Amino acid sequence: MKTDTAKRVRVCASKSYDVIIDSAILSRSGELIKEVVKPCKVAVITDDTVDKIYSKTVVDSLKKNGFGVVKFVFQHGESSKNLDTYGKILSFLAENKLTRTDALVALGGGVVGDMAGFAAATYLRGIKYIQIPTTLLSQIDSSVGGKTAIDLPEGKNLVGAFCQPNLVLIDVCTLDSLPNEIYIDGMGEMAKYAVLDQNIFDVISGDKYQIKDLIYLAVDYKRRVVEKDEFEGGIRKLLNLGHTPAHGIEKLSEYTLSHGRAVAIGLDIILDNSYSHGYIDKTNLEKINAVVKKCVGENPCPFSIEDICDAAQNDKKRSGDTITLMMVYGVGDVREVKVKADELKGYLK
Ligand code: NAD
Ligand code: GLY
Repeated sequence: MKTDTAKRVRVCASKSYDVIIDSAILSRSGELIKEVVKPCKVAVITDDTVDKIYSKTVVDSLKKNGFGVVKFVFQHGESSKNLDTYGKILSFLAENKLTRTDALVALGGGVVGDMAGFAAATYLRGIKYIQIPTTLLSQIDSSVGGKTAIDLPEGKNLVGAFCQPNLVLIDVCTLDSLPNEIYIDGMGEMAKYAVLDQNIFDVISGDKYQIKDLIYLAVDYKRRVVEKDEFEGGIRKLLNLGHTPAHGIEKLSEYTLSHGRAVAIGLDIILDNSYSHGYIDKTNLEKINAVVKKCVGENPCPFSIEDICDAAQNDKKRSGDTITLMMVYGVGDVREVKVKADELKGYLK
């Protein structure tokens, strides 16, 4: 049964798919998945925290709709997003004899989505997968657009693939069980969208907003970007705003600092430097800072900028000896600046 509050975004990329945003959608997940994947064997991939809260609802719904279900659970956290867990997921899929007509469901935050997505992209050279994101961050960003990845000891997201999901089911009710600090992590990526998009900026600046509306606006913004540049040859780089320092910060913290917080700090660094390079004036900087603060509060940077620049040297956004930074000229006006890797420390202060 459809509810009248559902919002649907159709992403038309190399594979086209719907992102459905609704309340209490998990109990209908089997029914909705059946609309895009014929009943088959489904591997639900999740972490131990999410498993305890949401697996049963999803598994029951899948079974009720004729799917055979197997489940793989790994320990929550970024430190699991590695070659070891990835290898275990692949072995689990093989042991359970999943074939190319079977499917995988990623149930959890961005860590689950990135890693399960990469397993789906590579197992048997690619099987279908469905994203059921359960953190704000994964609902507005990682579950949409087809970037999948795992980390290496040398750096963040260094192995991955572009592989679009077959469906994304966003249940806003899952946000009710999120600890506040993890919710704020998601608001770090939301702050990024606010700088990129005047509409999102205005909604957050206003007195009151419904998070469901903001999720819709963020997904729809990302849809527009991904449809124009799925493989990040051009404007998709906008979505990396704040991410070069953020990846350095995550690495320096040995991944104890979350991605969302690191993005919030990275955004501060980029905003300060956009001002000191004269790209943005004081009035606009202050307006943007106020919205960022409304999203994430104060986020003091625990590392020196020199260390962050050193740690960011292995960033994916490096090509040859050049690093591409996204700098802020105003709300909705973010531009690419190429900096020699060995000059990054002089450029970011
Ligand atoms: P996460 O997946 O580690 O989730 C954070 C914590 O919240 C985990 O401990 C998890 O168990 C718990 N959790 C998840 N849902 C819950 C719920 N509903 N209730 C209670 N607890 C819940 O982290 P994240 O912030 O969702 O994602 C971060 C990851 O996403 C990073 O690895 C980052 O690199 C990646 N990412 C990818 C993209 C992309 O485009 N692929 C974009 C942004 C971020
Ligand atoms: N999160 C950045 C992107 O999807 O391109």
